[in-house]
Amino acid sequence: MRVALIGFMGSGKTTIGRLLADSLACAFLDLDEEIAKSAGASPAEIFRVSGEAEFRRQESAALRRSSEIPGNMVLACGGGVVGAAENRRILREKFAAVWIDVPLQEIYRRLSADSGGRPLWSSAGAVGVAECGVDQRNEALYQARLPLYRECAALCYRWQPSETPTTSAVIIGRLLRGYVPF
Ligand code: S3P
Repeated sequence: MRVALIGFMGSGKTTIGRLLADSLACAFLDLDEEIAKSAGASPAEIFRVSGEAEFRRQESAALRRSSEIPGNMVLACGGGVVGAAENRRILREKFAAVWIDVPLQEIYRRLSADSGGRPLWSSAGAVGVAECGVDQRNEALYQARLPLYRECAALCYRWQPSETPTTSAVIIGRLLRGYVPF
């Protein structure tokens, strides 16, 4: 099975993806890592030096390349991959996309401890970001993405507070076992 994990920044796609790939005994790819390998720079550096449009171009190219690699895999995608219509088509047609749905409040909790070099997550402490408007910006991005995740997802896993990455991976594995593409 070819699985893509989608969802907002901080939803746990990479951590859960590695565990899920182990349990399915298949390859694991992380789209941000694929971009970094081919660009020789991290996503945050690409944003800083060349801007978001260039990052999106590289992200779409990396998704296309990953979709052409044969065999079973789990692909953890960056939160913004769903922005481009062509990426959404690839996710729908070439993968079983699983949306990891985590409430914004929990995303705040996770990213306030570690924003992990995420240029699109506005934190009050970030250089150049005025304190005022930070929450609205994150909320607007989160809300704008929800219908896009919904549009690509074959399955939705709604995270519950009692669940760890390990239990999340087990639950997603179970959902996938019952999933029949049509
Ligand atoms: C982005 C999410 C990041 C990374 C880039 C842009 C986004 O990945 O691709 O900073 O637009 O949401 P994660 O979702 O793994 O944080």
